[in-house]
Amino acid sequence: MKKIGIGLLGLGTVGQGVANIISNPNDRHPLVGELEIVGVAVRNLQKKRDIPLPDSIFTTNAFEIVENPNIQIVVEVMGGIEPAKSLIIQAIRAGKSVVTANKAVIARHGEEIANEAKAAGVYVLIEAAVGGGIPIIEPLKQSLGGNQITKVSGIINGTTNYILSRMDKEGVHYADVLREAQELGYAESDPAADVEGSDAADKIAILSGLAFGGAINRANIPTTGINLLEAIDVNYARKLGYGIKLLAISEKGKNITQAEISQPLSIWVEPTLVPEDNPLAGVNGVNNAILVEGNPIGQVMFFGPGAGSGPTASAVVADILNIAGFQSMSSEISLNLDPLLSAKSWRICHIAEEKEITKKNYIRLITEDTPGVIGQIGTIFGQKKISIESIVQFDASDSEAEIVVITHKIKQGQLEEALLDIKNLPEVKRIAATMGCL
Ligand code: NAP
Ligand code: HSE
Repeated sequence: MKKIGIGLLGLGTVGQGVANIISNPNDRHPLVGELEIVGVAVRNLQKKRDIPLPDSIFTTNAFEIVENPNIQIVVEVMGGIEPAKSLIIQAIRAGKSVVTANKAVIARHGEEIANEAKAAGVYVLIEAAVGGGIPIIEPLKQSLGGNQITKVSGIINGTTNYILSRMDKEGVHYADVLREAQELGYAESDPAADVEGSDAADKIAILSGLAFGGAINRANIPTTGINLLEAIDVNYARKLGYGIKLLAISEKGKNITQAEISQPLSIWVEPTLVPEDNPLAGVNGVNNAILVEGNPIGQVMFFGPGAGSGPTASAVVADILNIAGFQSMSSEISLNLDPLLSAKSWRICHIAEEKEITKKNYIRLITEDTPGVIGQIGTIFGQKKISIESIVQFDASDSEAEIVVITHKIKQGQLEEALLDIKNLPEVKRIAATMGCL
């Protein structure tokens, strides 16, 4: 029987993981044995690779792979926006299904790609783009399809979770542990995407589109990373009974009915204080965890390795098998594309303005160490109708005090106004940090 031809665009961390699985089909699903890698595009042909693939199938011209008639499924694991996006579109137009791990492309051009796939009658599957090895894309598309989803939230960047866990538990320095995450293959080729939060923003845009049924304007997601996080905040958070995690959150506004087509969603990414007894506080290292809340399911949590060669390849190969299984079926009987495997949007989603986002906040202020400062700060919060959960003064030195405030849930517009007034108090030297808080 003729095997299903696979073309790999990229043979780095993820591509090598995929090649390893396909080269070792024993004890896996029988369809794995039906797959054959017949073309591989890389940048550098001279690079030493520990993969049993013949030199003859390698090329530096990725466009050869998408036009190769012996390839039925193109696997894009090269990363970056271009030429990855053009290669995906060209593969679709050549009648090939595509599997991609590229959240940067899907978050920005997912709608265009889905429309191209629909027109060509092929699949584009993206399980590996969010949560590494965790099945979350297909569950949102299929298993949870009967729910009214109200919120999707969690830890969706492995590199930053690895960094924050090591900083918190072992006091390892940020730059050292970032280098380690790069060596382990967790980080993006430009790790700014991880530490500045844009990788998590790409992923929450994709999850929101699936959960809430409409394309998300990725550019409108307020995003803060961990690159400016100071060790002192990790320390204070711990003293107050919290850990710090980079969270991505997407929730439907209150009073919005499922029937409305225009759906203001609050979506944001930021370092967030997580109470020690919250299940997310126990998610450490490269692991990710995604909490989906909906009606009637209640809450369901997805947990597992969020990055790395093997786990991500596991998700890529699952997508390949879904397509391969469907292709073998449709060669026997005439079938249309499976509507559950295909991407679908059924409403327009709007992202709420940042000032409308409602949440608890952690604020650290550097002030003069004089009597009455806490009272004045409290008065301003009161004037802006902001209720305070706690206000604590940490070690004063050189006539300076560090004051940490945790608010109850408030609109970010209210907080902005209060902080403007607080900044103008003569005793307040600066607002040193603001973060979310669960
Ligand atoms: P990587 O290790 O940097 O590998 C990239 C591969 O693509 C390399 O083999 C490189 O060739 C090849 N390549 C890059 N540009 C090319 C071009 N223009 N033409 C031909 N080949 C090209 O990246 P990765 O970590 O595997 O990530 C790949 C994708 O998966 C990215 O979209 C990433 O966001 C996503 N992803 C990664 C992980 C992870 O844990 N690493 C998890 C989930 C999703 P050379 O080998 O010759 O340099
Ligand atoms: N750089 C990404 C992360 C890879 O650390 O989560 C997985 O998408």
